[in-house]
Amino acid sequence: MIITEHLQKIFKVGFWGKKFLALNDINLEVKEGEVFGFLGPNGAGKTTTIKILMGLIYPTSGRFFLMGKEGNSNSVKMNIGFLPENPFFYEYLSGMEFLNLVGQLYGLNRDERRKRIDELISLVGLKGAEDLQLRKYSKGMGQRIGIAQAIMNNPRLVILDEPMSGLDPIGRKEIRDIILKLKEEGKTIFFSTHILPDVEMICDRVGIVVKGRLKAIGKLEELVGDTLHSVEITAGGLSAEALKKIEKVSDKIIKRGRKVLITAKDNEISGKIVALIQKSKGELVSLVPQKRSLEEYFMEKAEGD
Ligand SMILES: Nc1ncnc2c1ncn2[C@@H]1O[C@H](COP(=O)(O)OP(=O)(O)OP(=O)(O)O)[C@@H](O)[C@H]1O
Ligand SMILES: [Mg+2]
Repeated sequence: MIITEHLQKIFKVGFWGKKFLALNDINLEVKEGEVFGFLGPNGAGKTTTIKILMGLIYPTSGRFFLMGKEGNSNSVKMNIGFLPENPFFYEYLSGMEFLNLVGQLYGLNRDERRKRIDELISLVGLKGAEDLQLRKYSKGMGQRIGIAQAIMNNPRLVILDEPMSGLDPIGRKEIRDIILKLKEEGKTIFFSTHILPDVEMICDRVGIVVKGRLKAIGKLEELVGDTLHSVEITAGGLSAEALKKIEKVSDKIIKRGRKVLITAKDNEISGKIVALIQKSKGELVSLVPQKRSLEEYFMEKAEGD
């Protein structure tokens, strides 16, 4: 659905036109039917990449293909839905009036509009709010109407720039659910974000961009791996003597009242610690293997420069 080849973007900034390399050799591929998370810290180049895909700005060099066609041609545009980073809506229109306007822009007739707007309002969960003016919408409602307008024409590819930014956990979950519903309808979704849990929960694949470079691309479990990082054991009722023995083999011990949190480097050491706890008639409260998180991976990539 999306292929980029060596995309590069140089901005000229300031009076002297100093060159700024915003995108440096971005090679991406997004397959049909995927939810693809485009991940990166502020200023990484996410919006710049999306603007290039949408034909809003041109790359300095490199090329891209959408649905097999080079560039952003009109025929392709009809099959793409887009939610920009900071959408601006006519705020004196109600949600219904706004969607009606968008439907008219797409050339849908009255009956088609009525049917489609009805579907959209229930898909994005705005039933009951359709007659409210957009200026009275909350941020989450604004994002939802933004997604509704993006998919008016039932596009095959949906591109969303930071659809969850500024939303509370409930609002983010609602947007995630909408994205999953779009996937169920067979659409391909490409969205940018810097909110890691959202990516972990819904993305088939992710790309990590840092300072204009694509640092990694792939399935989350391939990137983050299944490797064990440490084992966290919580125990209670340990004698001072038992604690001393455990202290010798463990990586770290934190005392919390009657309980202790013990970190072991690997399974072998955690086994020894569990044996020590049982021998001293202590209580084993929990044992949790810690895998490397996306957050750690992300920080590694973001700092490894
Ligand atoms: N028109 C422009 N002229 C000059 N520099 C620009 C322009 N647009 C973007 N940049 C710079 O390019 C870099 C990438 O910006 P971009 O908006 O793509 O980042 P982003 O990954 O979307 O960040 P955020 O998470 O904050 O939205 C930034 O350093 C930004 O200042
Ligand atoms: Mg951005």
